[in-house]
Amino acid sequence: MSHENVLFTEYKLNDLFTLKNRILMAPMTRAKADNHSVPTQAMADYYSRRADAGLIITEGTVIRADASGYNNVPGIFTPAQINQWKIVTDAVHKKNGRIFLQIWHVGRVSHPNFLQGKLPVSPSATVMAGRIPRSEGLTYGESRALILPEIKELIKSYAIAAENAIKAGFDGVEIHGANGYLIDQFLHYHTNQRMDEYGGTPENMARFALEVVKACGEAIGYERVGLRLSPGAYLNEIVGEKRDALVFKYLFDNLNHFPIAYVHTGNFNDAQQFKELNDMTMTAFIRSHFHGTVVASGGYSLETASQGINQGNFDLVAMGRPFISNPDLINKLNKNASLTQYDASMLNTLY
Ligand SMILES: Cc1cc2nc3c(=O)[nH]c(=O)nc-3n(C[C@H](O)[C@H](O)[C@H](O)COP(=O)(O)O)c2cc1C
Repeated sequence: MSHENVLFTEYKLNDLFTLKNRILMAPMTRAKADNHSVPTQAMADYYSRRADAGLIITEGTVIRADASGYNNVPGIFTPAQINQWKIVTDAVHKKNGRIFLQIWHVGRVSHPNFLQGKLPVSPSATVMAGRIPRSEGLTYGESRALILPEIKELIKSYAIAAENAIKAGFDGVEIHGANGYLIDQFLHYHTNQRMDEYGGTPENMARFALEVVKACGEAIGYERVGLRLSPGAYLNEIVGEKRDALVFKYLFDNLNHFPIAYVHTGNFNDAQQFKELNDMTMTAFIRSHFHGTVVASGGYSLETASQGINQGNFDLVAMGRPFISNPDLINKLNKNASLTQYDASMLNTLY
């Protein structure tokens, strides 16, 4: 019976990759790298335990030392980081799994404490509220506007991170353009008030995301590049506006020209409809504009995921929290066995 479920059928992503099932492990920050942002053996064990996912997307991994806003998140910019990631990718490949590295710059979602006393950067100078997780009481605050040469350098840094990911044995990268981090900050009017070639119009606001995609695609091949986006604003204090939808529409119209691996919804609850997206869900909005592979995520179960794929609403699903509470998630879903419920205290250990 279970083999009839669409979730357990193969999916041809492109000429390089045929996924063994339709369930991806969603990227999840675990903050268990060492104090130099170097991955550990425990991380290799954790990911290899989940190698039967159709594709693992790693936790967000910072592209440079100054791209971070959290303690103990991994990086992909030093030889030690690349070498240790190789242990992770070898462990996953040994079990016949596939793994993409999520490459990340947090932009304004940081604090001078992580940046050698400097202000976080963002498309525009803005102020962000809220407490920083796992930071002993630090709060967010001011950011400063990037100047043009810094933007050009950042685009190069994403491409170098993608090349380093390939050196570390990853099958590809997922560019983290979601959840209110740097790329997303360019895509919403609330955080992008620039008046130069990177702001003010949909074309200008989408430019940074498109240039990052292009730089990574040219560096490692577009088939190895996925992109995560949150067209609806919902995290890290970005306020959505109706005109944001035109920025994303422009972005998708242009992404359609590149043979990227997929676009992935960045969301915690994909049932939510967004006013700024004409009351559509994020995945429905992406599907209506992007012609390639769409990965949904945010609160999916076996039933809702297979239904969504059968109805043509998306092609693949990423699951997050269920993968933390069930390392053997694929096997359990395949047998329709009951799942261990997720609980935030499970984040303390890396099983
Ligand atoms: C502990 C935790 C860490 C997360 N870290 C990331 C991350 O690094 N990058 C990212 O794009 N999303 C991150 N997310 C969001 C997940 O990828 C996913 O979208 C979300 O958990 C909703 O899916 P789910 O309902 O299946 O858990 C994180 C979620 C959780 C619970």
